[in-house]
Amino acid sequence: MIKEKARVKTFKINDTDVTAKSDSSILEVAKEHGIKIPTLCYFEGLSEVGSCRMCLVEVKGSDKLIPACTSKIKEGMEVITNSPKLESHRKMVLSMIFAERTHTCSVCVSNGNCELQDQAIELGLEHSHVPYIHKHFELDASHKDYVYDPNRCILCTRCVRVCDEVEGAHALDIFGRGIDAKIIHDMDEPWANSESCTSCGKCVQVCPTGSLFEKGVSSAEMVKKKNIVTNLIQMRKDR
Ligand code: FES
Repeated sequence: MIKEKARVKTFKINDTDVTAKSDSSILEVAKEHGIKIPTLCYFEGLSEVGSCRMCLVEVKGSDKLIPACTSKIKEGMEVITNSPKLESHRKMVLSMIFAERTHTCSVCVSNGNCELQDQAIELGLEHSHVPYIHKHFELDASHKDYVYDPNRCILCTRCVRVCDEVEGAHALDIFGRGIDAKIIHDMDEPWANSESCTSCGKCVQVCPTGSLFEKGVSSAEMVKKKNIVTNLIQMRKDR
C-alpha cells in the first residue's frame, strides 16, 4: 500500500501542470514553482492559521476563494493565483488591516523594513478603501530590550506561534476580540513581569511590522534576523 505522504497529485497552477506530494499546501507548491502568492500570517516552518486572508486564490469551478497556506492540493484542481478579482480582494484586505490600527509608515521604526508596507507598495495601494478606526492602545515598553506596540499589530500571531512552537515558552497569547484584540504576555502582565518569557527575541524577529521591535534600533538599522528562526526550524526538520 502506498503511504499517504508518498502519493503524488497532478493539478494546474495558472494553467501550468504541476505535480506535488498529496499533503502539500497550494502555497508550498506555488513557492516550489517560483509563483508568488502574497502572505502575512504565514511563516515557513510555523503552523499555518490562515487568518490574514492575503493568500486567497481562485479555484476554477468554484465561486469561493480559498487560502493557499492552509488548503491542500487536490487531484485535477485548477488554481489561479492572480486575477483582477484577487487583486481587488487583496487590496480590500490590506485596507482593512491598515484602517484597524495606526500604521503611519513615516514615523514607524520598521519603515522600509515592513512586510505590510511591502505588500501595499506591490499592490499599488495608495489609500485605504475603508475609513480609519483610530483606536489607541497603550505601548508596552517595560522589557529592557524590546517593545510591543499594539497600534502597529496586525494580529498575525507569528509571535505567539514562534514562542510556543520554536522557543517552547508560550509566553504570548491573543487577548480580546475584534478591534480590541492584542497580544499579551502571560495573564496580561507588563512584558518585564512575564515569568515565562525567556527574552529570546524570536517574536521580534518574525513580526512582519513594527509592532515588536528592539529598543534603540532606528528604522535604518532595523533588519529582522528571520534566519535565527528559520535555521532552528530547519535543524529540527533535519534531525
Ligand atoms: Fe494565508 Fe495569511 S498567509 S491566510
